[in-house]
Order: sequence, then C-alpha cells, then structure tokens
Amino acid sequence: MAQKAVGVGLIGCGTVGSGVVKLLVEQAEWYAQRAGRPIEVRRVLCRAEDVGPHTAQVPEGLLVHDLDAFFDTPDMDIILELAGGTTFAKQVVERALQAGKHVVTANKALLSAHGPELFAVARQNHAAIAFEASCLGGCPVITAMQFNLAANRISAMYGIFNGTCNYILTQMTDQGQAYDEALADAQQLGFAEADPTLDVSGGDTMHKLVILASLAFGARVEEKHVPCEGIDRLELVDIGLGAEMGYEIKLLAIAEQTDAGLTLSVGPCFVHADEPIAQVKSSFNAMSLYGHAVGHTLYYGRGAGQMPTASAVVGDLINLVAGSYGALFENMATWPDQQPAPKLADLDRVTARYYLRVNALDQPGVLARVAEVLGEHGVSIAAVNQHEQSVGQFVSLVVITHEAATGAVRRAADDIAQMDVIDGEPICIRIIDMPEG
Ligand code: HSE
Repeated sequence: MAQKAVGVGLIGCGTVGSGVVKLLVEQAEWYAQRAGRPIEVRRVLCRAEDVGPHTAQVPEGLLVHDLDAFFDTPDMDIILELAGGTTFAKQVVERALQAGKHVVTANKALLSAHGPELFAVARQNHAAIAFEASCLGGCPVITAMQFNLAANRISAMYGIFNGTCNYILTQMTDQGQAYDEALADAQQLGFAEADPTLDVSGGDTMHKLVILASLAFGARVEEKHVPCEGIDRLELVDIGLGAEMGYEIKLLAIAEQTDAGLTLSVGPCFVHADEPIAQVKSSFNAMSLYGHAVGHTLYYGRGAGQMPTASAVVGDLINLVAGSYGALFENMATWPDQQPAPKLADLDRVTARYYLRVNALDQPGVLARVAEVLGEHGVSIAAVNQHEQSVGQFVSLVVITHEAATGAVRRAADDIAQMDVIDGEPICIRIIDMPEG
C-alpha cells in the first residue's frame, strides 16, 4: 500500500525558499524513495511585506499571507522556517514547536541568539529542530560533527563560515578588486544577507561559530563569548604585505580547547598560503576540525547561495521524514540547552603570533618607540617590515611578533594607538599556525 504523504509548510519565499520549492517539485519522486514517503508542500507563507521576485515561483494555490491561515492548514507535519531575522522567525518557530511540528531552519541568527530556549521548547513538545542549513550552506558539518564524529573530543576548529566575506577577500587578493565593488558583486550573486553589514562585520560568522562551537565542545556558547571583528577595516595594503610574507588573508572563526580553557574568536587571520584552508576561494566555505580519535578532517563546500542552502534544508527534511533525525534529536543530550556554560581561557594564558601594522610618522626614533611599547608588554619582535614609500608624513610599519600572550598583544596595540607618532588604530591580525593533524 502506498505510504501517506508528509505535509510540509514553508515560511518565507526568498532566495532559499524558492530553491527549496523548486527541489521539492522537481525531485518529488526521488525524495519519496529516499524518505520512504512522498513529501508534499501544503502551504507557503509569505508576509505581504516580504513579497519579492521569488514569490511568483510558488505553485498556484499554495501561497498565503496570513499567519493564522498558514497554521490552520490541515496535515502540515513539518515547518521549514526560511524567513530569516530573529523576531518573526522566533514567533513562528515557537508556534510550530508548541503544536508538536518538527522545524527545519536555515536561520543562524535565530539559533545563535535563542537556540537553547528553542531547543528546550522542541524537547518539551516531542518535536525536533533540524538546522544543517544554518551553517556552511551545502557543506554538511553539523551532521558530520553531531553524528559521524560523535566518538571524538574536539580540540580545535578553524573555519571560513561566510561566503560573502570569502568572495570579497578572494576578489581583492586575486583580482585586486576594490572592496565596495566586490561586495556589490556578492550581493548580486545572492550570497549576502539582506543586510550585508551582518556579513562584513563578522556577525554572520560569529552566529555560526556560536552554533558549531556549542556542538563541538559540549558547551552553551553565547554571542557574548566571541570577540568579533569583520573585514570592513581591512585594506589592500594588508593583503599585499601578507602575500609578500607567504600568507593569505581569511576571515576565520576559531575555537581552540587549550590548557587554559576554550578560546573563541572571529576575525581576519593570515594563514600560510600552502595550507588547504588558504585555497578555499570565492563563496566556498570550509571547516578544519581536529578530533582526538580521528585527527584532522576538512570539510569544503558552497556555503552560500540558493541551491547549496536548499540542498541542506531538503536533506534535513528527508532525514526527518525518514525518522532518523527526530529520534536522534530526542535521545541525544548534546544540544546546547542541555550543556553548561563554556570555561573560557584567560587571554593572558593563550599565545599566538601576530601581524601588527601601524601608520607611523616617518621620523627618527619612531620604530624604537613602537618596539619599546611591545617590549614593555613582554611581546617579542620576530620581524619588521617597512617599505621606502611613505604616504604624506606616514609610512606603513609592520611588526611580526613571536608567540605572545593574546592579552598582552591587545594591550600593547591599545597603547600604540595612543602614541602621538601613530595615525589611527593599529591593524592587528593573528597569524595561524595550524596544529599537526
Ligand atoms: N550571507 C551568508 C554568507 C549566507 O555569505 O555566507 C550563508 O549563511
């Protein structure tokens, strides 16, 4: 006897939503085989204010603009939340979970801000939240970490989690394209958030790190735990100077389990040009993960854009319909709401190498004064680089430090910023030495 179809309701019909509808319509037969039952879209909610170019792609009769009309639809077992944002999205996800419906979401901002609360609501109502699409688009890192690598204690994670930033940095590095132009292209290609400030400020990367680090380290990581810097202050000069030293610049999310505790950060970093993660270009994302049993693993895939993200949403949907994910969600006690706060490291007890660039007055004694401040903070200099050309009275002075305490480097940079011979804020970029696999 044919299996009864599973009914799906979709909230939001923008870039990702329309990609999901396209897959579910075009691949219906294949998905029915994979899930063991047909999957049917019963309703698509698109608020009047969200109607856009993609809305026209919704099959006739499915579209509603009213929330109550959407939730009144009979036989809707699973809700796909693809609206984005945190206010309306939280309201609809809670309502769906309270009605005992499973939720699939691509919403990293929502889970970063309210994940633990929503996971608890899900559990109370014997429903599940599936969220592979929230991090790294079509690159299945959550499934890998939660299920396939469940045997491991994770020691470190280094990731390129934002396609827009990686696209911009690739364009600036490989093509010499200006930042504003590259950002406009990323928006046009559908990689960027509705408000691209979230991408370039590092906020979107931070949201994903909050989710992934919570899962990796069994801790309830929160946004306030992650110091976050974006790519909006970077200049071509830093990219060029880094390249001269054999480094590529990347916006990295980092989580490291050190003897002093967990360190978390988002910011531009230099990586050796021959590291695999340096070869991750354009809108591709990657995550380098170190597990105590498995060693080094690397995940790579398209992290942004319509169909890669739709691929992750539909993958979650199929696993829910097939029954595997719901059972795992109910039984595993590894979700952030069941975990304690992380034990964060004291930044005076963790070390790294740094690139420090300042605009210094091109005058006698300035280099010595910068070196003196670094010395006062116990930061040892490994190399100094200054080109002969100055811009007006100023010249770019670059110092590469030996391994130094992160807290000390930050305090030294703050003191250098106050010096009367320095113009503007120093640029401080961590140089990553990847652990041995
Ligand atoms: N704006 C995000 C990015 C989309 O550029 O990576 C995927 O989360």
